[in-house]
Amino acid sequence: MKLFDVYPINNINIVKGQGSHVYDDKGQEYLDLYGGHAVISIGHTHPHYVKRLEDQLHQLGFYSNSIEIPIQKQLAEKLGHVSGKEDYQLFLVNSGAEANENALKLASFYNGKKKIIAFTGAFHGRTSLAVAVTDNPKIIAPVNETDDVIKLPWKDEAALEQAFADNEISSVIIEGIQGVGGIQVAPESFLQKIRSLCDTHNAVFIADSVQCGYGRTGKFYSHDFAGVDADIYTMAKGMGNGFPIGAISISPKIQPAYGMLGTTFGGNHLACAAALAVLEVIEQDNLLQNAAEVGGYLIDELKKFKQVTEVRGRGLMIGIDLPAEYANAKKDLLFKHHIFTGEAKPNVIRLLPALNLTKAHADQFLEAFTNVLNNQ
Ligand SMILES: Cc1ncc(COP(=O)(O)O)c(C=O)c1O
Repeated sequence: MKLFDVYPINNINIVKGQGSHVYDDKGQEYLDLYGGHAVISIGHTHPHYVKRLEDQLHQLGFYSNSIEIPIQKQLAEKLGHVSGKEDYQLFLVNSGAEANENALKLASFYNGKKKIIAFTGAFHGRTSLAVAVTDNPKIIAPVNETDDVIKLPWKDEAALEQAFADNEISSVIIEGIQGVGGIQVAPESFLQKIRSLCDTHNAVFIADSVQCGYGRTGKFYSHDFAGVDADIYTMAKGMGNGFPIGAISISPKIQPAYGMLGTTFGGNHLACAAALAVLEVIEQDNLLQNAAEVGGYLIDELKKFKQVTEVRGRGLMIGIDLPAEYANAKKDLLFKHHIFTGEAKPNVIRLLPALNLTKAHADQFLEAFTNVLNNQ
């Protein structure tokens, strides 16, 4: 049997990781500013994380949601505290797409409406509704096509107001910073407008925080910069530092009912242990503050490069726009300087490192970046 060949891959076999470094099978060290696609939040193989998972595995790996699972309640309490949404309710799933799928469904259960507003440039996942609200026709199969999704131009307040006019909107889903879309920061006034229109029309504001959340921007949810609360926050990626776990954090105004949502694996003991370990490290090591400081430093320094068209982002979610002649920059960083970064179309380098990246790591990147740009 061979693998279903859907990923274009780099010919590198990573076999070990520690902190912000990974190592290939030949022992070569790499600086990881990609975090396996924004997943590694507290660094690879963090000792507290490894111990917590190991201890849990010796106790119990899995039992179903039909029994008491106290570790889920511990996680809910901790997440409520660290995210500053203590009165919200937690539903645990396994991935970002599943989180968005459940959020969109829950919104429709809540207000009995069908229409969803999403935006150009958005990426929300690959399952049925999640992909339907994603702005990429190539990954939407005919079976995912639906007239219930209204795709509006990014940041267009007038179009937003107009779409609400017929009062049929169930929910609005928006990333605080579009990731796949190239690190596009949602303006605070736009998020505030969504809040007020959702209030007026009994629609649900869904904040997709799968990539931009979990402290990456220096605030727990990047939507928090707008000073308004969403009704549902969706999260995954950094939540488990590599262990598959996702969640939705739900406003108290939305009431649960037995059977409304469900999952076999969501909220299993091991996943909760991983997620608790991540939050404990985030809290103990002040990682939101570190993301803001080291990220702010990187953004300021990157803005000084005359070859860079634009630097966008917040904290440790950074997009570097380069002109077409620097199309090889990402490859050169990887193969000549052994630094992993992400990318977005057409020519954006995306930095999504662990939240405990140090200033020394940032300087190492800046030096390599200077070298790459000067040698194109
Ligand atoms: C903003 C956003 N939402 C949702 C998803 C989907 O998450 P997953 O791949 O865990 O299903 C992603 C993945 O990149 C994402 O960036």
